[in-house]
Amino acid sequence: MASTSPVTTAVFPVAGLGTRFLPATKASPKEMLPVVDKPLIQYAVEEAYAAGIRHMVFVTGRSKRAIEDHFDTAYELESELEAAGKQALLDVVRAVQPADMDCTYVRQPRSLGLGHAVLCAEHIVGQQPFAVLLADDLMVGEPGGPPVMAQMTASFAQHGHSLLAVQEVPEDQVSRYGIVAGTPAEGRLIDVERIVEKPAPKDAPSRIGVAGRYILTPRIFQEIRQQPRGVGGEIQLTDAIARLMRKERVGAYQYAGKRYDCGSKAGFLEATVELALQHPEMGETFRAYLKTLAL
Ligand code: UTP
Repeated sequence: MASTSPVTTAVFPVAGLGTRFLPATKASPKEMLPVVDKPLIQYAVEEAYAAGIRHMVFVTGRSKRAIEDHFDTAYELESELEAAGKQALLDVVRAVQPADMDCTYVRQPRSLGLGHAVLCAEHIVGQQPFAVLLADDLMVGEPGGPPVMAQMTASFAQHGHSLLAVQEVPEDQVSRYGIVAGTPAEGRLIDVERIVEKPAPKDAPSRIGVAGRYILTPRIFQEIRQQPRGVGGEIQLTDAIARLMRKERVGAYQYAGKRYDCGSKAGFLEATVELALQHPEMGETFRAYLKTLAL
């Protein structure tokens, strides 16, 4: 059945250097690190697909070829599995790229920041609202509830303005996030009045931190283009959103679910343990193993 999502395109910026995971990320993309049995990027693509999005745009850089290969047909592997009658594995491999999903790749020649990476997708996205998913934030909806991007597209269908996924963060961690302040609006929405990238705790306007999921109107491209370099000498998406806010309504969406910061070793390990415990095949065995550890 054709998708009726109000958002049809998702941008996946995957051109970062992943320095926090060196040496693992020296020659392979951070987004291909597996949590249990799936690479981070596949979790994010599945989340977008579940929200009805069918066009996936990857902003890649050097050492990111594995991502293109992952979402391409693996002809030799599929033939081998077929010949060996391994249908279940064949289904797992084929499910990575559903027939109605299109992938486009664009290069960000230098890691000039997340805002710059998003701008690299402008000529593909065109003049339509689009989603941005940072695969190193692994997002899990509440048990039995919709995934985070599906919650956001539903809100976008109702309100039609840009949205940033947010959650409350501990005070000593505000300097790791874009922090927003604003007025509570309908349901899970906050009307954003201020947004600051990675503030010192004493300068943070709140403890509401932005997670790596956005729905943006195409006006953001214009704002990024006019954006001078910000924190860390990078062209920050947060700064462009601050400019967008002066012209259009921008909402912070307090999602239902959990975020694992898989760009950091601690978050990655937490995701691995928690998702392994929930895994249908190995959850029970893993739980029994953990209980044997003298912690
Ligand atoms: P991060 O801040 O996590 O940066 O970027 P990073 O370079 O990947 O990782 P560290 O901090 O060096 O360990 C957030 C997201 O933005 C993308 C990254 O791939 C990641 O998904 N990004 C960042 C780009 O695509 N291009 C950039 O220039 C910067």
